[in-house]
Amino acid sequence: MTGPFTIAIDGPAAAGKGTISKAVAAHFGVGHLDTGLLYRAVGAQMLTGAPPEEAARRLVISDLDDAALRGAEVAQAASRVAAIPQVRAALLDFQRAFARRAGGAVLDGRDIGTVICPQAEAKLFITARPEVRAQRRFAELRERGAQTDFQSVLDDVKARDHRDMTRADAPLTAAPDAIVIDTSDLTIEAAIAAAIDAVDAKRKEASG
Ligand code: CDP
Repeated sequence: MTGPFTIAIDGPAAAGKGTISKAVAAHFGVGHLDTGLLYRAVGAQMLTGAPPEEAARRLVISDLDDAALRGAEVAQAASRVAAIPQVRAALLDFQRAFARRAGGAVLDGRDIGTVICPQAEAKLFITARPEVRAQRRFAELRERGAQTDFQSVLDDVKARDHRDMTRADAPLTAAPDAIVIDTSDLTIEAAIAAAIDAVDAKRKEASG
């Protein structure tokens, strides 16, 4: 890819967006921005007492390089600060600039195809049943040594889905022109292949 070609990948928690986005970015040789990390970094700072809006305005890229951002408590804090319009506004320009990088970019999140990059050349919406997503997140957290049980992970996923889908500003929803991939019954390899095929079709369309 030479000119800007934005690939927007949205969907709910633990649907496989992260893994698919990394694989798509590697396949097409473009940069990848996990926008959830921006909200996680602001959420983490709120947990230490910083006002969220100020934290969002002062955010620097090195703040994203922190394994502690992956925890469940930070995820809930992220979805709380993500409902604050001033926080979302403060993070907008950075995301848009990344999206229009020469050569193309993959951004994954909740509102990339709807609000951040409504003109994205390719839009995917990655989803899966809540129980399947909770099972994946549970395995991931256990692997990292977190003490947790399936039910509380499922409750967390559902609480976050609800907050993300019902907020007034940039709620989680598929763009009308997004290609929906339900990964509930797919292996990760099959899900990646479906995503690459969908983007490839859009690239061919774009190049006429
Ligand atoms: O990895 P996971 O899908 O669990 O979460 P994430 O993508 O890291 O996002 C954490 C939280 O940030 C979400 O629950 C959303 O509330 C918020 N978020 C958002 O509002 N908009 C985005 N573009 C990305 C994340």
